[in-house]
Amino acid sequence: MRSFFTKTSIKGGYTIPSRYYIWELTYERVTTNYQRNFSLKGEEVSSFTKEALIQLQQYHAVTYHHSLRVSTLSVALAKYVGLEKEEFELVRYGALLHDIGKMNIPLTILDKPGPLNESERDIIEQHPYYGSDKVAMVPGLECLRPLILFHHERWDGNGYPIGLTGAQIPYAARIIAIADAYDVITSWRVYKPKTSVAGAIKELERCAGTQLDPSLVEAIKGLLTVKRKSNSE
Ligand SMILES: [Fe+2]
Repeated sequence: MRSFFTKTSIKGGYTIPSRYYIWELTYERVTTNYQRNFSLKGEEVSSFTKEALIQLQQYHAVTYHHSLRVSTLSVALAKYVGLEKEEFELVRYGALLHDIGKMNIPLTILDKPGPLNESERDIIEQHPYYGSDKVAMVPGLECLRPLILFHHERWDGNGYPIGLTGAQIPYAARIIAIADAYDVITSWRVYKPKTSVAGAIKELERCAGTQLDPSLVEAIKGLLTVKRKSNSE
């Protein structure tokens, strides 16, 4: 029984983990802040991000390099689908910091060569909370909370931490989720070999409409085709 993530119904029809009550966070509150504080200006934003990434690099270099690649791809995809500069800057920072909460996860779990057991999965699934909490207190970065908190939500509602469905998931978080998936598929991990770009595209197609936003799967396929063409020219 995964008691830590027991889901409880709240008004508005969403279900949220009981831990949200402790943190006095609700989906509505987080997304309202997302709309209201749509700004990434200020010295503290860049100094916090820089410092957080230095710490992440020292703690877990694999996650650090993954975050840089996810950010690059997320921004490329955000531009490809026509987001404005302010929006793709939000995506850039959100992607850079999306896994920052993994610094709270023991290395024995992050580097475990085999599949995780249920209690280890419970622990690793806390990283969106930790990451969201880290940025919450930084002026200018509150707007990143939903991106970090919801980057493991799935289009079909079977993700975590809440189980949001489809368009309930902030668009920027869906962009990060697909870049995240692509990077995991194409990178080496202690528990799996890396897959080719062609193999990754097939895998993303397989996940369209279940794990991933199908329109963004189409978009990333277009983006990767453009990239591959320009690389071969
Ligand atoms: Fe993650």
